[in-house]
Amino acid sequence: MSWLRTHTCGELTIDEKGKDVVLNGWVSKRRDLGGLIFIDLRDRYGITQIVFDETNEKIHSLAENLRSEYVIGVKGKVINRSKETINPEMKTGEIEVEVAEMKIYSKSKTPPFEIKDNLKTNEETRLKYRYLDLRRNELQEKLILRSKVYHTIRNFYNERDFTEVETPVLMKSTPEGARDYLVPSRVNPGKFFALPQSPQTYKQLLMVSGFDRYFQIVKCFRDEDLRADRQPEFTQVDVEMSFVDEEVIYEEHERLMAEIWKEHLGVELNTPFPRISYEEAMTTYGSDKPDLRFDVKIHDISDDVAESGFKIFKSTVDKGGRVLSITVPGEGSMGRGALDRLTDKVTSETGAAGMIFMKLNDGEITCSVGKFLEDETMQTMAKTSEAEDGDLVLILAGPAPDVYKQMGGLRLIIGNQFDLIDKDQPRFLWVTDFPLVEWSKEDLRYHALHHPFTSPKEEDTDKLESDPKAVKARAYDLVLNGNEIGGGSIRIHTPELQQRMFTLLGIDEQEAEEKFGFLLDAFKYGAPPHGGIALGLDRIVMLMSGATSLRDVIAFPKNQRAQSPMDNSPSEVDESQLKELHISLRKTVTQ
Ligand code: AMO
Repeated sequence: MSWLRTHTCGELTIDEKGKDVVLNGWVSKRRDLGGLIFIDLRDRYGITQIVFDETNEKIHSLAENLRSEYVIGVKGKVINRSKETINPEMKTGEIEVEVAEMKIYSKSKTPPFEIKDNLKTNEETRLKYRYLDLRRNELQEKLILRSKVYHTIRNFYNERDFTEVETPVLMKSTPEGARDYLVPSRVNPGKFFALPQSPQTYKQLLMVSGFDRYFQIVKCFRDEDLRADRQPEFTQVDVEMSFVDEEVIYEEHERLMAEIWKEHLGVELNTPFPRISYEEAMTTYGSDKPDLRFDVKIHDISDDVAESGFKIFKSTVDKGGRVLSITVPGEGSMGRGALDRLTDKVTSETGAAGMIFMKLNDGEITCSVGKFLEDETMQTMAKTSEAEDGDLVLILAGPAPDVYKQMGGLRLIIGNQFDLIDKDQPRFLWVTDFPLVEWSKEDLRYHALHHPFTSPKEEDTDKLESDPKAVKARAYDLVLNGNEIGGGSIRIHTPELQQRMFTLLGIDEQEAEEKFGFLLDAFKYGAPPHGGIALGLDRIVMLMSGATSLRDVIAFPKNQRAQSPMDNSPSEVDESQLKELHISLRKTVTQ
């Protein structure tokens, strides 16, 4: 019998009883009972218990030397486990393999952490030994899910006649919001490529070329500050279509999501997904990516308190700010200490200056600033807040739009703290009608909210110069459980409108020509109306698998400082390499 494995470690059941088999794998757990040595042999498919009996002296003494993570091959017979050791939780839990022969393929140093689920080891160590971390079932399952989702997506577009096109990784630096990763060119001294933040301009050029329906599952690179849901290198499902409107894009992508959820999680999604305008999302949920898994809404009580005796309310409203409330059902009896702790959390996490509360108990309303308010005012505030007896009402006051965002933060805090979030049903929605631009206080100019290629709504085009803030964009985000998992727009497709947009963004004709001349030129040769979307694959798999960080669904991720502790990148390079690239480092470089 050859040493090639006949089965994996997740495969054998009582049906194979009596068979001679060959297994390969890693030594996971070892229990030495003197006469018998039991080992859990592990591979990516599962675990099979193997047993070394002292009656086979040679093999038994070999087994005594086995340590965790040794890679071995065994030949042996499938037998019943003794009654006490049967594990009904495991597919292989009724059998074990009685080892007749063994080969040690390689030994292992003692690993820096145990290969098991629910590991508490700090992440830096896990990232340094990522190849060991990836031996853990938890992470393997997530990467296997990722691979399966990847194939569903590819098949989905393929079946619908989309063409998959690979766009360049070395491209022109055209900042699209974040900073570019730059690549110096040796043969073009002093010149740089950028790694794509997204293939946005290429996919639009492909539409000009007539490709009509394009997709690509593609790496994108952004040098931005990292969070749990952001990696410097991430994967987009990038899509562009010609001769379509928003409806076609919504419908296709609702279908894609439904297919993914059904196939891999067995969950039927309700389609069509709800749609909420940006304005409604901000005023009702305080977020442009609202989590709809709980039904707590923001109420505007400004009119109720504008003339009240509490100065902060009055002055906030007088200055054009808002007084907003949120009702926490059934928490009206919360004690002072708990409320103080909640206030501290809210002020430190959302930037709110302070929080006011109102409690409804036994037909009475008490309020932290009650001595300044008439009973009638409090009654109206409670009514507008849709609060009932037994509820707690939390209030923030401040300038808009900041106070809405703070309320959004408060909403999430109470959703988590009071367990209001229904984790069973995924809640998708489209956020639509974004403003085209926003004013940047730092740069003193307008920024595109989505990107500069997004089309304004046709009816707003004449306000581009006169009232840019009032112009709405044909842009949309796909949101899942409070996370932005995709974004796109219908694009500008005429050079004239594109130039007007650039001008609005403070990019004059010369700069536009230098940076985007190729796109403006392309639009002069017959550009179809077009639009598209990009989905964040990492975020989708993160949410599907219940992970809380993108790092858990990326094989070799970067840490919070955009470094890889495993291979120590980014790293310094030889002086000779720099010289070849015509680069000299500035003296101010510090570590
Ligand atoms: P946008 O910048 O909204 O749009 O990106 C699309 C989606 O990509 C994901 N994403 C990220 N995921 C992980 N780490 C990051 N740093 C990161 N940044 C973005 C998000 C996001 O919704 N070219 C346009 C798309 C278009 O208009 O068609 C674009 O890139 O899930």
